[in-house]
Amino acid sequence: MSSTPRSRTSTCPWRRRTTSGRSRLGPPACPPNTMAADRVRHAIVTGGADGIGAGVVERLLSDGLGVVAVDVSVTALEELATRLGRPDALVTVVGDVAEPATWEKAVDTCHAALGPVGVLVNNAGISPKTDGRKIAGRSIPLAEWRRVVDVNLTGAFLGVQAVAPDMVDRQWGRIVNMSSQAGRTGTVVAGVHYGATKTALIGLTRAFAGELAGDGITVNAVAPGKIETPMMRGAVAESNEDFLRGIPVGHFGSPGDIAALVSFLAGDESRFITGATVDANGGSFMG
Ligand SMILES: NC(=O)c1ccc[n+]([C@@H]2O[C@H](COP(=O)([O-])OP(=O)(O)OC[C@H]3O[C@@H](n4cnc5c(N)ncnc54)[C@H](O)[C@@H]3O)[C@@H](O)[C@H]2O)c1
Repeated sequence: MSSTPRSRTSTCPWRRRTTSGRSRLGPPACPPNTMAADRVRHAIVTGGADGIGAGVVERLLSDGLGVVAVDVSVTALEELATRLGRPDALVTVVGDVAEPATWEKAVDTCHAALGPVGVLVNNAGISPKTDGRKIAGRSIPLAEWRRVVDVNLTGAFLGVQAVAPDMVDRQWGRIVNMSSQAGRTGTVVAGVHYGATKTALIGLTRAFAGELAGDGITVNAVAPGKIETPMMRGAVAESNEDFLRGIPVGHFGSPGDIAALVSFLAGDESRFITGATVDANGGSFMG
């Protein structure tokens, strides 16, 4: 796949109008597809080897994007690449999102193999449990608290910092942060560290959305309810069964359900949505 040349010149008439200092009021003259000529169509998806992230990788590939899947698990990345069989459009990077070096590698790999980054999905997250049950907040060791903050929150922060230059350069970008129902309301299944970081991700989303909106970049959060993934299967069966009784649609979500939403937020037609948190939970929390 060839890389798209870097350019600051937008083909969007609305963008030309705003960058020359004229009013932003009134309906934008740029319908969904007029930015096609200089739109960047490559994505970085973290935690992309399994669960929701793998669903997002698969969906974005089928949407026609080139994808860099970043994950700590070498084996899961290899399995994903084999299963999806898209060496033309899928590149994998092994690394921890909490490490700045991972982000440097992910962006460099995207540039070398695909082109500039246009979409970032900050999906990697951890929810430590003991024997499948949450740990009481008062008993969480400091090291575990710090690790959850590093992965769930700092990882996303580093991600936005790493990709923003490409997006600002192109005056187009889509950032999606994977929060959780646990960040929208209380949680009986996940720990205090998990709930706190998922709520903080919503704040990070709003703050970056405000900063980056003028550069054609949207930043949104998705707050999934219970989704069938290895993370969910890490909780004891009885707690998942309890949860299921509180889901009005009567079933858990699938990675594909979340991927469909991410696909929309990563595309052109979501251009008027930024700083939002979108719930996808089968009705188990109606904010
Ligand atoms: N499954 C759910 O019910 C649910 C609900 C709400 C929110 N979420 C959120 O969705 C995201 C994905 O959840 P999931 O259920 O697919 O999780 P999962 O544990 O099934 O998969 C997570 C993936 O992220 C990778 N990963 C973990 N730590 C990483 C790190 N430091 N750097 C890079 N990769 C890392 C793992 O190796 C794994 O491939 C998480 O942020 C999670 O908090 C999940």
